[in-house]
Amino acid sequence: MPNNEQNDNLHPIHHRLVSRAEREERNGHKAGVIWLTGLSGSGKSTLAESLERRLFADRIQVVVLDGDNVRTGINNNLTFSEADRTENIRRIAEVAKLFVQAGQVVITSFISPTLAMRQMAREIIGPHDFFEVFVDSPLEVCESRDVKGLYQKARAGQIPDFTGIHAAYEPPLTPDLHIDTASQLPKASLGQLYEFVRDAIAAFE
Ligand code: ADX
Repeated sequence: MPNNEQNDNLHPIHHRLVSRAEREERNGHKAGVIWLTGLSGSGKSTLAESLERRLFADRIQVVVLDGDNVRTGINNNLTFSEADRTENIRRIAEVAKLFVQAGQVVITSFISPTLAMRQMAREIIGPHDFFEVFVDSPLEVCESRDVKGLYQKARAGQIPDFTGIHAAYEPPLTPDLHIDTASQLPKASLGQLYEFVRDAIAAFE
């Protein structure tokens, strides 16, 4: 990770700020990152949105990070090369970590295609605050749905490095939760995810 001499001159103010523990106590739940990974079209964003709604209704401090608010803003200078995807994930993990310090439950919705990228995210966020959720739908199913029409474009050679077509997706080996969105109805997938998250953040209940 890049470090420069200026960083040596920074003076951390953590001890004066409202602590994570104070925030968690007031919120009545733990903070953490629910890291959704899976192919484009596997259902990550739909699940993230519906989970956020449900947790918000429960008065849980929750926020979603996904392509719409990250790749169009802070990461709008990044492509889909392997190096840029790694930088995409690094910045997302750093942002998620800041939100965790602010007591939030963070739901991230990114392909994050390789084991190494997700391992990096786990290390940045810290293993105790990182919950890996594999949103699993086979390529054939994602491609036949083709909600955004991107698979067709990728097959036609109009999108380079498309995950699943010309760029690899490495499934998690030991995810904390495995959701089969191909053979399960969306409502069942949401129920499975919701139960898992409520359990994971239930520190003070
Ligand atoms: S990641 O690989 O860096 O984690 P990310 O989740 O941010 O990817 O963005 C994936 C979304 O960007 C896809 O759902 C799709 O809408 C769009 N996209 C555009 N180009 C590509 C590409 N080459 N590969 C995968 N997704 C792409």
